[in-house]
Amino acid sequence: MKRLLLLFLTVLLALTASAQKSKKFVHGTLIPPAVEPRIIAVETTSSSLILSVRENGSVFQLHFGTKVNETEFAAIPSYAGRYGNGAPAYPATGGRFLGEPALHLRYADGMHNTELHYIGHETTEAAGVKTTTVRLLDYVTKLRVDLVYEAYPEEDVILTHTRIYNAGDKPVTLLSYASGAMTFTSDRYLLTHVNGSWAQEMQVESELLTHHLKVLEDRRGVQNTQLGNPAFLLSLGTSELSETEGEVIAGALAWSGNWRLSFERDAENRLTVLGGISPFASEYPLKADASFRTPDMIWTYSDKGAGQASRNLHRWARRYGVYGGGEVNPILLNSWEGAYFTFTTETLLRMIDDAASMGLEMFVLDDGWFGNKYPRNSDNAALGDWQVNAAKLPEGIDHIAQYAHSKGLKFGIWIEPEMVNPKSELAEKHPEWVVQSPGREIYTERTQWVLDLSNPAVQDFVFGVFDSVMQLSPAIDYIKWDCNRPIESFGSPYLGAEQDRFYIEYVQGFYKVMERIRAKYPSVLVQCCSSGGGRVDYGSLKYFNEVWTSDDTDGFERVFMQYGTSLFYPACVMAAHVSTVPNHQSRNVTPLKFRFDVAAQGRLGLELQPRYLSSEELAYVNRCVASYKEFRDVVFNGDLYRLGTPYGNDFYGMMYVSEDKSRAVVYTYCLRFRQLACDGVPFRLQGLDPDRKYRVVEQNLGDADRPDGAPVTASCWWGNGRSWSGSFLASGAFNPILPSLYSSAVFVLEAE
Ligand code: GLA
Repeated sequence: MKRLLLLFLTVLLALTASAQKSKKFVHGTLIPPAVEPRIIAVETTSSSLILSVRENGSVFQLHFGTKVNETEFAAIPSYAGRYGNGAPAYPATGGRFLGEPALHLRYADGMHNTELHYIGHETTEAAGVKTTTVRLLDYVTKLRVDLVYEAYPEEDVILTHTRIYNAGDKPVTLLSYASGAMTFTSDRYLLTHVNGSWAQEMQVESELLTHHLKVLEDRRGVQNTQLGNPAFLLSLGTSELSETEGEVIAGALAWSGNWRLSFERDAENRLTVLGGISPFASEYPLKADASFRTPDMIWTYSDKGAGQASRNLHRWARRYGVYGGGEVNPILLNSWEGAYFTFTTETLLRMIDDAASMGLEMFVLDDGWFGNKYPRNSDNAALGDWQVNAAKLPEGIDHIAQYAHSKGLKFGIWIEPEMVNPKSELAEKHPEWVVQSPGREIYTERTQWVLDLSNPAVQDFVFGVFDSVMQLSPAIDYIKWDCNRPIESFGSPYLGAEQDRFYIEYVQGFYKVMERIRAKYPSVLVQCCSSGGGRVDYGSLKYFNEVWTSDDTDGFERVFMQYGTSLFYPACVMAAHVSTVPNHQSRNVTPLKFRFDVAAQGRLGLELQPRYLSSEELAYVNRCVASYKEFRDVVFNGDLYRLGTPYGNDFYGMMYVSEDKSRAVVYTYCLRFRQLACDGVPFRLQGLDPDRKYRVVEQNLGDADRPDGAPVTASCWWGNGRSWSGSFLASGAFNPILPSLYSSAVFVLEAE
């Protein structure tokens, strides 16, 4: 009895002590309880992220990079001072932090300060993916933040996101809310990112970061990747982007709306990278008891240059990041550049016949098939009215789709469900569904307006477009989902006074629609188009099988755009079409062989009127299509090795190698011709097994025209048709002759 009483008293004492400890006030200030310092390690096969929890409860990042032994990091003294070692793991405005915040809030009393303290962490594992959640609390405001780190060991990829939970009893406003922060230490930081415009997407730029803040941002609401991309490469300690050497970090944000990447180099030369939703016009309200989950930020570290960083992202994407990743998608004929808006059922059936005879696998009916009151005969009417145009296609879609199936082809069809033309029945019926600002002109672009996807009724409509188009024929296998303008002068009649929610809820609305589509149509192939290149991000790719890389189908321009795309996105998503010359976008003229050799880097397609091909060209197309079918599994599932860069170089090459290193495809191009290059151009092949022998066979030979008119019938490499070791091929001895502008050569390598 005495012992029981003693135990009771001891427990009571302990409880009171701990309560007092957590409620310690000094000069009226609440001092959060001390915590036991500890190290939290998030690891992949070759990289480590090390977080340290300090006695005062702050959580710092000590390291993200090469694999380390975490126990040694426990020995690092965490001395006083603004930072001590490392930098805040998720810097919040408040406390002693004065830099660019990952988190910034305004509380109901108007205050802006947040101080996050460690209250616990846990790691769980599911299907090989380890998820570490670090729980943080602001003791004053009751704001809770979970930092979530998902580690994909084999792919060397770490995903970060946060859950922000308002556990207080008053609403708060989120002003900045990044998906993750990473800090690096080096003497030099080379940032590589992309810029662009319509038909010129994914142009690569590199720059050395100076002190202060560098921000990459997009504010277009949709078409969020037409002018840039929420992805970057960061090379440490160098002024040059190397494919094979040095420390490179890659990051990509999985978000299909406004995004922001920031790079802040502080006085001590530390660089903090933040990635997340752009806070532009998005002061997001969070009611009491409500939470907000930021999108995923995808990070990878390579100590073998940019090539390995890209390969890590690609492998992760094929396995986790892309809908249907790793599956081989069909070679298609798309009607757009071959027919535009001018076609009849006959035109389409004839194109299907031609596609079948060229060995293609799918026919896609692009824009122009819908609208009756306002027929879609140009881009100035009918978006929103998704009924088959009875005058143009009186037999309906099923007739055409079934015809394609009867010829052994799949069938696809184009929609642009988020948009509406002013000249449409939909705009007449639902003017309140259009994104608009009261009393102001609703600007058109491509004579169209954007529908307000933050409105659940519009979400139902957009889902209904997909759903009802699918009902046009059981033979529809593929949907091309377009989105051809950005949002301007934003405003949602549905959101009333809460316009700050618009940009975020538009994207969330889009994802809700895609969730419903994927639940009902799990096996339909869906392409994310958006004027080409306008919505290439890992937020969309969770639902889409591929992207339309660019509206610019010029082979020469495509070399650069596909190079830029390849920095962050895998070949399996990269739709690449052979079109006619002069190219409809650039007026450039390149040989048919060159166009094939470039389009064969991704998911091959044709986008031209086959009727205009000569019989020699048709025979050549047949050969190229047949050869592509033999090696495309390596394109879709292999690892990419870029053999340099097309920028500033006369010659460029790249290759894919199967994961087991038994097969490879090598692509080589002449992009600028300045001399009689009688000697071969040495390319050092990568990724091969040095000790295995590979039989090298050039593809796409035949009667294709070269710029000088000579048919390319003989291989341009002296070693063609024979077997060579991986080490020999890596030595520079592989040196095809590329004797004129737009010469190109593709080789398949098979291990013996
Ligand atoms: C966009 C797409 C094109 C084509 C047209 C149709 O520009 O990117 O591929 O579908 O729309 O209007």
